[in-house]
Parts: sequence; structure tokens; C-alpha cells
Amino acid sequence: MKAQHARGKLTARERIDLLLDEGSFEEFDMFVEHRSTDFGMEKQKIPGDGVVTGWGTINGRKVFLFSKDFTVFGGSLSETHAAKIVKIQDMAVKMRCPIIGLFDAGGARIQEGVAALGGYGEVFKRNVVASGVIPQISVIMGPCAGGDVYSPAMTDFIFMVRDTSYMFVTGPEVVKTVTNETVTSEELGGAKVHTSRSSVADGAFDNDVEALLQIRRLMDFLPANNTEGAPHWPSLDEPDRVETSLDTLVPDNPNVPYDIKELILKVVDERDFFEVQQAFAGNIVVGFGRIEGRTVGIVANQPMVLAGVLDSDASRKAARFVRFCDAFEIPIVTFVDVPGFLPGTAQEYGGLIKHGAKLLYAYSEATVPLVTVITRKAFGGAYDVMASKHVGGDVNYAWPTAQIAVMGAKGAVEIIFRQDAGDADAIAVHTKGYEERFMSPFVAAERGYIDEVIKPHSTRRRVGRALAMLASKRAETPWRKHDNIPL
Ligand code: HXC
Repeated sequence: MKAQHARGKLTARERIDLLLDEGSFEEFDMFVEHRSTDFGMEKQKIPGDGVVTGWGTINGRKVFLFSKDFTVFGGSLSETHAAKIVKIQDMAVKMRCPIIGLFDAGGARIQEGVAALGGYGEVFKRNVVASGVIPQISVIMGPCAGGDVYSPAMTDFIFMVRDTSYMFVTGPEVVKTVTNETVTSEELGGAKVHTSRSSVADGAFDNDVEALLQIRRLMDFLPANNTEGAPHWPSLDEPDRVETSLDTLVPDNPNVPYDIKELILKVVDERDFFEVQQAFAGNIVVGFGRIEGRTVGIVANQPMVLAGVLDSDASRKAARFVRFCDAFEIPIVTFVDVPGFLPGTAQEYGGLIKHGAKLLYAYSEATVPLVTVITRKAFGGAYDVMASKHVGGDVNYAWPTAQIAVMGAKGAVEIIFRQDAGDADAIAVHTKGYEERFMSPFVAAERGYIDEVIKPHSTRRRVGRALAMLASKRAETPWRKHDNIPL
């Protein structure tokens, strides 16, 4: 215990106590020991073998969990340690309840060799079987290496603790030996790297306590499984709440940004928004909120960052979130203000076509209710991608400030009226004409691509009404073994 506290960490059991409702933890396999006899291991047996497993409740709802104990062989995974986790994974799937892993561990137990590797294989296989059936959450609360990063990597969400947690496939010492790079643990796999650069982690918290309390908050948003639907929490927030300030949210000048999070917070119940991947690809915002007490996934372009453009990172981030929501029957509300896809060699060489396609694919395959609100720009391919009517949007609204076009007026006029390039007056006339024709929601509304042009102040009520209507949505897709999303 002292060793953990000295490193600024809680023990495996303290973490469980904080995560679960008081007194709700039921432990399994406390007396399991490893069976290894190599390297003098037969003399070092510690009951529990480095992982505490069981089930309990979070705000009264069942969850299964395992919590790695770094003080026992560095929390490393032996054959029997793996068997404990596998038992919990199997029970979680059988009971259709979420599973949470608290990680603080050095990967496969080096003294055991292939028996430990085989154990990981069993865990990995079950991560995949459970994927899309029950939510799987990983919290990285110490140094994690080897299999202790690959199992989390196949779960739905990974959260880290700042300054005390690291994730890497191989640690700094191996890196030095193999590549001659000198790098610290923090530089190689700290919370900052994984939340802002690699995007491996979905969020980071300041310490163990904060992390566990936030996981409790997250669990309140999530359904227990893929058929039960999200929980309903009582809300004092009026469904009809009018937000007059939204009528002036979008600035007159189309090039002036505004904060899309203001809209999100004013639409969801009690301004309670759990943002995912906040530090990565800030040009798109994703996370969970509630409307009339029920969870919704929110996806929103953020004009404050790169004008809300879609690039590879934003597309991947949002695609994964849309797929999570679709797998778990969480309706998706999309707020659109997007000038298009980001041009340039860096993006094209980096596979923008493939990554952008992920988001297009994710929305197109989604069968959950999709409600879309275009607040300002919906240009080019990005118009189609962002839950447009054409790819499956069920209710598509636009604010009066919406502009729906193949591109912005300036770029469009430069191409269509190239012959008038030097004639400023002519260009001004053409630009005005283009703006009048396309820079409003009404052309799309004339065709039924926008169901209604709504007043910004009524957005919460209109979205809530749409979701209520869509609650009974059933959409069938033809049988297939599985799809083939561009990876
Ligand atoms: C056995 C281990 C261990 C392991 C750590 N320990 N990892 N014991 N098997 N995998 C033990 C240490 O020997 C030490 O024991 C105690 O745990 C604490 O470890 P320290 O090194 O003192 O802690 P720290 O400096 O914080 O470093 C943590 C660490 C480092 C970064 C995790 O221990 C490390 O690099 N470990 C090895 C990581 C690794 O290569 N694992 C195998 C990956 S292969 P004492 O008795 O001294 O306290 C794998 C297969 C799956 O996982 C692959 C999937 C694709």
C-alpha cells in the first residue's frame, strides 16, 4: 500500500471502493495463485495473483470489473491471473453488463513465457467477442506495457491518469536498445501523448480519485448492453426550455468563429456533457449528453478550431464515436458547421480519402435515430457526410443562418466565372448571385433535404420532439457476415 501511495496511486482495492457503490463489491477468486515453478517462482505465491476481480454496482446498475495490483509481480499477467479476468469477461457477456478494467501492470509475466502469452490471447479474444455487445471501459492508472495496452486498445474507451500512467508496447529501455532513442516514459506514452497525439486514449484525469468519479459519471450515460437502451434519469430541466441567446450565436460574418460547445451545453439536460477525446482533433466535438433524461451522442463541428474543417483525425475520431453509439442504440444528434474537407498534400498523403470515408461510412451504416441541425456552413462532401438526409438523417433541421452549397461563394465564383477574374465588379455581382441562390437553407428545404428551418432558440425543444418521435425507429439492413469499413 505504501509503495502505491508513494507513487501517487491508490491500491487496487481502494480503487474498487471508489468506483463502486459503497458495500456493493462481491469478489471472486481471492485465493487463486499462480502455478509457475521456474525462476524460483514456486516460493513466491501471493493469493489473488496480482488482480482483484468481481462485480458490484454504480448508482445501482451492475458492472463487472478487474483491478490490477501493481504490488504483486508488477500486476503482470500469469496463466491463472488471465483465467480470473477471463471468468469476469465471460460473466459480463453472459449477464450483458459493462466491464471495467483498472490497469496498472507490466504485461505478460516474464517468468511464465508462453503460458502468459496464451492467457493474453484468451483475454484479447473475449474483448473482441464482447465488442458491440457490452460496453468495455479501460482506465490506465499506472505504467502499462505489452498485453496491458493491447487489451485496452480493443475496448470502447481508454482513460488515463496524468503523471502516473503510461502506455507503451515496449518501454523506454527496450526502445533505447532497439532504436537507440532516448525517451522518458512520459514522452513515450504519458497521458498527454495519448490524448493529444496518438489518440489512443479518450481522456485524462488529474488523479485516481478524479478518474474513478468521472468513470462513474460516464457509466450513467451508457446502456448496460446493445439491446437494453440507455438508462433514463429523472431531469428537472424543462424539455421546452427556450434559449434566446442562441439566436445570436452565429456571427454575421461567416468567417468569424463561435463556440459550438455553447450550443451543445444549452441543448442538453442540465448542461451535463461528457466529452470524449477533448484534446484530440478539436475541430470536431464528440460526447454524451441527455435530452429529456435519455442519453444521446453528440457530434459537432467546432468553428473555433481550424474553422471546423474535416481532416483525417477529426473523421477518425467522429467515426469511432458514431459507431459506438450505433452499436449501443444511442441516438445521435449532429450539429453541422463545416467548410469542407481540409485540402493539401499532408492530408492526401496521410490518407484523407480513407479516413474521411470512415465517417461517411459510419453515418451511412448507422440505424439509430439521427437528428441533424445545420447551424451555418454545410459545404461540399462534408455536407453529405455530416448525417445529411441522403446518408440516413431522419430529421434534418437548419437554422436560418445555414448555407448549403458545393463550396463557399468566393471559391465557386472563381471557378464558374474564371473569364471575369480581373473584373472586381462582375465578380461581386456573381458572388452575390451565388450567395442568394445557395447560401441559405431554403434551396435544400425546397427539395425536402431539410425538413424544417427552425429558430435557434427552439433547438432543444425541436431536437427533443424529433427524438421522441424517432424512439420507435426500426431500420433493417440486409444480412451479411460483417461489413468492411475502410480501416
Ligand atoms: C514479471 C514484472 C513484470 C512482468 C514488472 N514486473 N513487469 N514481473 N513480469 N512483465 C515486476 C518488476 O520486476 C518489479 O519487481 C515490479 O514488477 C515493479 O516493476 P518496476 O520495473 O520496478 O516498475 P517501474 O519502474 O514502474 O516500471 C514498470 C514497467 C516495467 C514499465 C511496467 O516494469 C517494465 O517495462 N516491465 C516489463 C514490461 C514488458 O516487457 N512486459 C512484457 C510485454 S509482452 P520487484 O520484485 O523488483 O519489485 C506482453 C505479451 C502480450 O505483454 C503481447 C500482446 C500483443
